[in-house]
Amino acid sequence: MCGIVGAMAQRDVIGILVEGLRRLEYRGYDSAGVAVINHDRIVERTRALGKVAELETKLAEAPIFGSAGIAHTRWATHGEPAERNAHPHISNDRIAVVHNGIIENYEPLREELIALGYNFESETDTEVVVHLIDTLLKPGVSLLEAVNQATKKLRGAYALGVIANDDPEHLIAVRQGSPLVLGLGIGEYFIGSDIQALLPVTNRFIYLENGDSVDMTLAGFTIFDESGLVVERPIKESLASSMDSDLGEYRHFMLKEIYEQPAAIQNTLAGRVELSDLRSCISGDKELLEKVFNEIREVQIIACGTSYHSGLTARYWIESLTDLPCNVEVASEYRYRRQPKRDGVLFITISQSGETADSLAALEKVKQEGCLATLTICNVPESSLTRESDFSLMTVAGPEIGVASTKAFTTQLVALQLLTICLMQRDPKNEAKSLEMLTNLKRLPAIVEQVLQQDDMIKKMGEAFIDKHHALFLGRGDLYPIAMEGALKLKEISYIHAEAYPAGELKHGPLALVDSEMPIVAVAPNTNLLEKLKSNLEEVRSRGGVLYLFADEKAEITEQSNIHIIRVPEIPESLIPIVYTIPLQLLSYHVAVFKGTDVDKPRNLAKSVTVE
Ligand code: G6P
Repeated sequence: MCGIVGAMAQRDVIGILVEGLRRLEYRGYDSAGVAVINHDRIVERTRALGKVAELETKLAEAPIFGSAGIAHTRWATHGEPAERNAHPHISNDRIAVVHNGIIENYEPLREELIALGYNFESETDTEVVVHLIDTLLKPGVSLLEAVNQATKKLRGAYALGVIANDDPEHLIAVRQGSPLVLGLGIGEYFIGSDIQALLPVTNRFIYLENGDSVDMTLAGFTIFDESGLVVERPIKESLASSMDSDLGEYRHFMLKEIYEQPAAIQNTLAGRVELSDLRSCISGDKELLEKVFNEIREVQIIACGTSYHSGLTARYWIESLTDLPCNVEVASEYRYRRQPKRDGVLFITISQSGETADSLAALEKVKQEGCLATLTICNVPESSLTRESDFSLMTVAGPEIGVASTKAFTTQLVALQLLTICLMQRDPKNEAKSLEMLTNLKRLPAIVEQVLQQDDMIKKMGEAFIDKHHALFLGRGDLYPIAMEGALKLKEISYIHAEAYPAGELKHGPLALVDSEMPIVAVAPNTNLLEKLKSNLEEVRSRGGVLYLFADEKAEITEQSNIHIIRVPEIPESLIPIVYTIPLQLLSYHVAVFKGTDVDKPRNLAKSVTVE
């Protein structure tokens, strides 16, 4: 949700800032802007409605230069996407601010500032921040002091970057709730919403903590904690390369990331499936982990979006393969709901980014209320969820740029299956089954590779969806969440309204929608629920519905005029939900490309939702 980047260097920083924005565009792309202190020590700003490319065009037409600057790509919350609402926001032509997050008490602050004579040019919550700093930045008061006094009055979540004419040698950054990293170059320093933004200029980072503020100059930087004391934060060297977030030979990041799945799954399994003690793939205090495995009575999973679907899939595994009950809930509901106190609950968050505001808030609530332990399944080491949880089980998918999540999802399923096996291994009688599942997992990358080879056929199938307005996705058992994920992918990127149903529920409503204009997608491998599913599919066919099936040979369903089938290899049952995800991803991708939507940056969405 909005990306911010800032730089302080001896060279012109516009190129660094714009490249940083390009890499942060997955966080929001309604508008973009940049502000620098120019060589006359004056704040200069350029903003554009739309994507970063629009900003680049404007900058090419009317270049600005400076060696200290801040920049922003926006996902609108307060105020429609419009140039006047784009960041950086400026006060009195002397202070510029970029902001990621939400200032909850902006309305009373706005009233106060209007009473003081400030004119607001935007409808954003951010503009109060810059005017507030303006009221406080007086002779004898440094920019850092003014920013710190201002943030004391703010409620909400924010990461800020601030520059000012009056203090041109300083760039101030603050983190409270929203993510912010400090990048360390040689004699130059940067801020970014994540490391991706800064990888072209450095691989040395400091992950700021909540309440931290940074005073950055060309000579170095000082970090202050929330009580104002100077603190040292560890410097981390990232192995990620700026190439990881380049498109390479692919037309879209989504397609690249779909094709990266065999490697991403392999990397998530690497060094783990062979472990004599599988539990050691979970990072955290070993003694506490021992206690957790002895005392666990229940699993509670919370997540958002695609990550929620991986949690729903895992519930089927945990409850059918262990003696533990497992609840799964979206974080935005869980965080505001009272839950009765239960003992022995392992609280699991699942998140690609590790920064999703609702998931973080749910974790915070659980920590306050108390639970056996907290564990996150996450793709970003050093993310807030990873740092705030007792344990982490990392997915190793590499950076995911496409807004529609693909490789993060399948690697989450892999991690969740490893976790299920760990939980199964608490009972010696599960030894053979858990060994079998681990052996199956080793085959998974090759099977995914095989399924990817059906891309052309899936693309052909996608043609039938181009002029459709609605689609139904059906699955049963642990394939119901996979159908949900398939429907989410289609609606996110092709804008076709898609719903998923457990196939047995068709007759309780959705059947009324079925006609020849409603494509029905079903995942139909040969499992113990296949016969039930087949009856449900007959219900659809006899009402004129056209079926698009993903099934193996053993399912014994034959292609007919209103039944189109993509054959998926016969695979062990434990791998089915993971493998059947792949063709659904490809189907949505091709439909979106046919429809000409912006696949990697679908309208109104953002990859990382760091606001409520
Ligand atoms: C956004 C993204 C989704 C993602 C969800 C949860 O909605 O567009 O792709 O699944 O956030 O994100 P997380 O990083 O917590 O998995």
